[in-house]
Amino acid sequence: MPYTLTAGTGVVPCEPGRTVLEAFLRNGNWMPNSCNQGTCGTCKIKVLDGELDHRNSPEETLTADELAAGFVLACQATPRGDVVFETPATEESAGTHVLRDVVATVAEVRDIAADTRKVLLTADEPLEFSAGQYVEVTVPGTEIRRQYSLANPPSEAKQLELHIRRQPGGVASEWVFERIEVGERVAVTGPYGDFTFDPDGTGPIALLGGGTGLAPLEAIVRQALSLVPDRQILLYHGVRTCADLYDVDFLRELETRHPGFRYITCVSRESGGDHEGYVTDAFLEDVASAKEFTGYICGSEAFVEASVKAFKRRRMSPRRIRRERFTPAG
Ligand SMILES: Cc1cc2nc3c(=O)[nH]c(=O)nc-3n(C[C@H](O)[C@H](O)[C@H](O)COP(=O)(O)OP(=O)(O)OC[C@H]3O[C@@H](n4cnc5c(N)ncnc54)[C@H](O)[C@@H]3O)c2cc1C
Ligand code: FES
Repeated sequence: MPYTLTAGTGVVPCEPGRTVLEAFLRNGNWMPNSCNQGTCGTCKIKVLDGELDHRNSPEETLTADELAAGFVLACQATPRGDVVFETPATEESAGTHVLRDVVATVAEVRDIAADTRKVLLTADEPLEFSAGQYVEVTVPGTEIRRQYSLANPPSEAKQLELHIRRQPGGVASEWVFERIEVGERVAVTGPYGDFTFDPDGTGPIALLGGGTGLAPLEAIVRQALSLVPDRQILLYHGVRTCADLYDVDFLRELETRHPGFRYITCVSRESGGDHEGYVTDAFLEDVASAKEFTGYICGSEAFVEASVKAFKRRRMSPRRIRRERFTPAG
């Protein structure tokens, strides 16, 4: 028998063992979420009535005081019965698409940069998502799930393009770099996350990506240019060496077709990029005022923090800064 979960106007069933977040997203009810691994705190919500099992809710994310005050991490907690929550901080949809399980086939695997592969999956059924969101892939032969951002725009709903960087000793890395095979069947769940492109805007955009943090930014750039071909868009890709750059020809070609789009490569440990150094310095040199801009940042925790500071130094409104952190699985 499923339990009943209530949050604001949302009333959804939840199978025993399923997390609160999954129950809401699987029923098409938006609930704030980002990492789905208990590290960001975006999904924190207050319980008004009912009991839950907190499972892997780390104290750095959910403090003892918050626990005592009745908060839970929706991405970790599983209900023990019917539960009523406070209305989520925002009921505004981040382009709510129903969270679904799909099976996909590995269609192509390509080395695109040092220790980086592009993996193209073809889903059996279309998966609706917003540009910027990510999916969880179950590593074949295991029950372990890892998050990967979708690099293709939502118009290609059966195609799932992933850019994956090798992590030495990593479970997913061992699969992607040692034994993946074209034709292999893969379980995928998604979409997740609040790192989403707002398709209604028309103002200038700045995007800063570190390493494979370029993936969701490509999806956003492609959708933005398809909607407003002459939109002012600055895309900065930060890497350590030139061998880490990828999709350069594709992005240069986009530049020739869209005069408002600029793609700036930033290489921090050698010369050869458009800018020698960090993306943040390149952005600060290029943009005197970012008051009118919307910003998208994706990469490691440190990359995101530094980039947020750079945007704020150029007066970008904090509510227009969106970020995705590639935090390691705990
Ligand atoms: C929302 C989200 C989206 C993501 N999207 C992408 C994406 O598009 N492309 C991509 O390449 N990755 C992405 N990641 C990271 C990805 O999910 C995995 O964490 C990464 O691929 C490593 O997985 P693994 O199984 O190979 O390594 P694991 O088995 O998880 O880790 C092996 C060891 O390496 C350590 N480790 C793992 N990652 C790091 C790190 N970054 N720095 C230092 N130590 C680390 C672990 O703690 C562990 O000790 C994303 C993460 C999140 C949260
Ligand atoms: S802690 Fe739950 S979404 Fe990040």
